[in-house]
Amino acid sequence: MKNKKQNTRAIAAQIILQVLDQGKSLSSLLPEAQTQLDPKDVPLVQEITFGICRVLPRLELVIKQLVAKPIKGKTRLVHCLLLVGLYQLLYMRVPAHAAVDEVVNATKVLKLDSFRALTNGVLRRFLREQAQILAVVDKHWQTLHPDWFVNRIKKVYPHWREIVEANNQRPPMWIRANQQHIKAQDYAVLLGELVAKNSENSTACVPDCAILLENPVPVAKLMHFEKGWATVQDVHAQWSAELLGAKNGELILDACAAPGGKTTHILEKALQAQVIALDIEENRLKRVRENLTRLGQAAKVICGDASKPQEWLEPDVMFDRILLDAPCSATGVIRRHPDIKWLRKEQDIAGLAELQSKILHALWQRLKPNGVLLYATCSILPEENEQQINRFVAQQTDAKLVEMDFNGKKTAMKQFFPQEKGGDGFFYAKLVKTE
Ligand SMILES: C[S@@+](CC[C@H](N)C(=O)[O-])C[C@H]1O[C@@H](n2cnc3c(N)ncnc32)[C@H](O)[C@@H]1O
Repeated sequence: MKNKKQNTRAIAAQIILQVLDQGKSLSSLLPEAQTQLDPKDVPLVQEITFGICRVLPRLELVIKQLVAKPIKGKTRLVHCLLLVGLYQLLYMRVPAHAAVDEVVNATKVLKLDSFRALTNGVLRRFLREQAQILAVVDKHWQTLHPDWFVNRIKKVYPHWREIVEANNQRPPMWIRANQQHIKAQDYAVLLGELVAKNSENSTACVPDCAILLENPVPVAKLMHFEKGWATVQDVHAQWSAELLGAKNGELILDACAAPGGKTTHILEKALQAQVIALDIEENRLKRVRENLTRLGQAAKVICGDASKPQEWLEPDVMFDRILLDAPCSATGVIRRHPDIKWLRKEQDIAGLAELQSKILHALWQRLKPNGVLLYATCSILPEENEQQINRFVAQQTDAKLVEMDFNGKKTAMKQFFPQEKGGDGFFYAKLVKTE
């Protein structure tokens, strides 16, 4: 493709338009965009698009100060170009003239030549009047989250501001050392400078395989990554395999497995366990297979609906342990996927809770007596977590909650919140089937 460099702002604007107006996720759009980009421009487009989603309401307020009439309809792409320009001027160390020129040039690439003067005028006015404009925009603290979400967490968490602040940070990078190869302490020595300083103080709840990095790095920088010595995984997600407690020879179901972060961890802990990795999306299962191959592990990978085990499992098969990392609102991982703030709608929550309940009830029938089901979500909403489990235990008389031990702190259900230099928002409940 010609003029790849000039197209980065145009591509970023097109991605943002699809997130905001068509409800598509950055994780689906960025891999598509990569095929049109020079590899060295991928991080730039990533930074601009993730960044815009992180601070969108602030950028919208700036545009309101600069543009008298909102830019709607077919020319919404111009609005998105302004978001791209303003994000660069406010948050990136790109020389101002270069940022403005690139955005103005993008109008041509996008066949929006008639908006050349407008984009140029708006961005240059921002540069001239920045101090006054920001004085108005930043007069009040902004959550940078949708109101429905803030209203919900306000009702249940007195520390809701901390949650919001943590969501607005860039996420830290955590590594899981593969203990089949090396202990975390020894791998941390190999990683040297990459490891976070004072990381032992970062969070009270660190399982023994987790390592916090000082800064995110490409996986190629992680020693023997290709040989399976390490996996990128949030620290709170690393509790799953520990809590599930799979043993060699047992039949284990990882019910919503893709991309396989937890499947591979289960096998790192019990290489001889017979694991079924199930997911409803075939294209996401590719990643499970890749991860298993990289780690030199074997599991049966099945595409199927966890709420309908009869469709993919013989009637007499029962599991020793089931990990249900349920489809959820992902409100615990907003800092990793800031587009969730604009993609997720309040009315989605009830539907997700219903799906989770359906899957829980269906899989429970496939658990052996004394078997363990670990329910997990990356949500912080009680409807998907505590309320879901309390209702299930009330309905299912053979389901009992088991106390979990997080480095000496015992609890029947665990709600993690996102923490700066710590883990993501995550929920766990461990259920055992009484005979
Ligand atoms: C939170 S992600 C799982 C992450 C994964 N456990 C890991 O650690 O890498 C939820 C997954 O549930 C899958 N999913 C959604 N509905 C499902 C269903 N009815 N049956 C099976 N999988 C489903 C999605 O495709 C998605 O991959």
